[in-house]
Amino acid sequence: MTKLTNRALRQEMVDICRRMNASGINQGTSGNLSARIDGGFLITPTSLPYDRMEAEDIVEMSYDGTYAGKHRPSSEWRFHRDIMKHREDINAILHCHSIYATTLACQYKPIPAFHYMVGVAGGTTIRVAPYATFGTQQLSDNAIEALEGRLACLLGQHGQISLGKTLEASLWLATEVETLARLYVQALPLGDLPILSDEEMARVIEQMRKMSYGQAPDAEGINDVARPRAG
Ligand code: 13P
Repeated sequence: MTKLTNRALRQEMVDICRRMNASGINQGTSGNLSARIDGGFLITPTSLPYDRMEAEDIVEMSYDGTYAGKHRPSSEWRFHRDIMKHREDINAILHCHSIYATTLACQYKPIPAFHYMVGVAGGTTIRVAPYATFGTQQLSDNAIEALEGRLACLLGQHGQISLGKTLEASLWLATEVETLARLYVQALPLGDLPILSDEEMARVIEQMRKMSYGQAPDAEGINDVARPRAG
């Protein structure tokens, strides 16, 4: 991610925020986005509508909680900072209030392995973090715990967080989490819902890891059934 200039990265953040709302996985000024840079991270400003947000509105933050920019950072800078510090495997954090994921989060219902795609979040469930007031250290602590070994979690009575190596990957995952939540909400009332075994999910997750599943076709990874033609 540091391959992009700071300016290009800011512009990509604005574009991702606008796509997040245009796709319907977020509404209004809810949600926020951050991207790792050397020595800290870039984060969206608080309460600024995405259609009015420009690259220069993005705020630069250090891990000590100080910031530079013409706006205050997102009220959720604590969980963005703590996840960036805690999770060296990712470079982008997207938080949104997508409707179906938030519906489940309001009922404290984790998403079990009812569908193999739950594996894209890194485990056999997508957990729900206990509720804490937005912007607090407690919410950050709860999110860190729910994200242990995972790339996404729900936030009780609040929304969802999705992580990625890139901004694009974080938006992709947030969209997948929302799709899974929607399927789960629809499938639940139809009767007993079969859950894939831990053994099958371990196989799914390993297959996804090997294939860089769901990531751009030029990303590193193999497909163990198809091979490029020689010559
Ligand atoms: P900010 O506008 O401060 O980023 O807050 C939006 C939000 O979703 C809080 O959880």
